[in-house]
Amino acid sequence: MTAQIADLPGSPDGPRHVALIMDGNGRWAQARGLPRAVGHREGVQALKRTVQAAPSLGIQCLTVFGFSTENWRRPAEEVSDLMGLVRSYVASDLNRLDREGVRVRVLGRRTGLPTDIAKIIERAEAQTAHNTQFMLQVAFNYGGRADIVDAAQRHVDRVLKGEATGPLDEDTLGLGLSTAGGPPVDLIVRTSGEQRLSNFLLWEAAYAEMVFQDVLWPDYGLAGLTDAVEQYRNRDRRFGGLATVQPALATG
Ligand code: FPP
Repeated sequence: MTAQIADLPGSPDGPRHVALIMDGNGRWAQARGLPRAVGHREGVQALKRTVQAAPSLGIQCLTVFGFSTENWRRPAEEVSDLMGLVRSYVASDLNRLDREGVRVRVLGRRTGLPTDIAKIIERAEAQTAHNTQFMLQVAFNYGGRADIVDAAQRHVDRVLKGEATGPLDEDTLGLGLSTAGGPPVDLIVRTSGEQRLSNFLLWEAAYAEMVFQDVLWPDYGLAGLTDAVEQYRNRDRRFGGLATVQPALATG
């Protein structure tokens, strides 16, 4: 049976679910006179450090933006480097993540991906589906708008098949998103000083806190994540009301 991540232990102060826009790999490499590919490679090391660090801060789910639907516009060589990094990350880390109880889930469209990458994703998800210690979601070939469109289309298909009726409401649409079943996103972090969402988790961001940090992604790890969590814990979350709300009780 698939693990219920919402039941995982987490810090009562939150955040339980942190989403990361891992920005700045190219600038990190450029500052050192190195090819962008080296920045992405170091970005994978930062990802590994951050996944290791997250449970010590009470985080139970991390969602990272690995490749957006817009990233196909990058030069073919860079796209190919990023695909290669997924292959090597899964080859080197999947068994360890599985042993450590990490459930891996990949958000985004499978169509248009190289066939072997689609298979690697399926294997990573299937092998770790039973894990309950921690959840790592990798948004790959993901766009927030596309995910909402796909969720709406799923509902339309169900209506056409007679499996659902209208009108469509927020809960029903939410069930069709690729993040369905996971804990609500408490905090979205973007590194490298940029301050925008870039089509990441548009629906899920509705009541998330946002933290923008100047650090470039390849330099990220425990220190950066600790700082982001501390900023989050100093926020007052009201979810549109007047009183502070415990995130665990909020539906958004
Ligand atoms: C943004 O930096 C980062 C990306 C487009 C991809 C992030 C990818 C990784 C950290 C490594 C591979 C991922 C996985 C899931 C194994 P940028 O290139 O836009 O940096 P810049 O804004 O400085 O140019």
